[in-house]
Amino acid sequence: MQHLVAPSLLAANFLRLENDVLMVNESHADLFHVDVMDGHFVPNISFGFSIIKQIKSIARKPLDVHLMISNPDQYLNDFKEAGADWLSVHYETCPHLHRSIQQIKALGMKAGVVINPHNNVELLQGILPFVDYVLLMSVNPGFGGQGFIESTYSRIRTLKQMKEALNPDLLIEVDGGVDTVNATKLVKEGADIIVAGSAVFQSENPLDTIKRLKYLT
Ligand code: DX5
Ligand code: ZN
Repeated sequence: MQHLVAPSLLAANFLRLENDVLMVNESHADLFHVDVMDGHFVPNISFGFSIIKQIKSIARKPLDVHLMISNPDQYLNDFKEAGADWLSVHYETCPHLHRSIQQIKALGMKAGVVINPHNNVELLQGILPFVDYVLLMSVNPGFGGQGFIESTYSRIRTLKQMKEALNPDLLIEVDGGVDTVNATKLVKEGADIIVAGSAVFQSENPLDTIKRLKYLT
């Protein structure tokens, strides 16, 4: 499968958000990555339902919503209503993760679990057969523009082995510090989806950067 590219709107220009959404519509990207932060699970606050609804009203690609919030169970239905097509929750925030994943699926969304850089991917063994994707954080969640954590490569390798044994359809998504330089190796190791925020929106030509992330050399 050709890997998917998901530009992270966290790095977009919020004063001209419409332009950036339309740019992604026109680009070779596959998904919109939408980061929701609550100032509690992570030390930053991003945006919520009303912004997501407005993005959804003009987006022509699915919304991949990444919840960095405490107690996500309380809001699963609201995110569906706001327009999420894919919804991921952090392993660290869900004491009843299997139930959360089943609820996301029952609402008609693709269900993902996210894991922080300090947690071993082996922790996901029990939930792996039930999720559509795993989002591996390659930075500590909360901010764009951070440096990529190199141990991510071996984490992808381990997760790929688990995927082959437990859920061959699983997609592996990598998020944080991804750029046109490290993307090739990430995909080679087994990343199916690459998220990129600053690498796209802070580049001189975001359309061209997305194309380069999609057609890696
Ligand atoms: C970080 C977010 C990322 C972020 C990536 O907590 O989950 O999606 O937007 O930004 P870059 O690509 O700039 O590291
Ligand atoms: Zn994210």
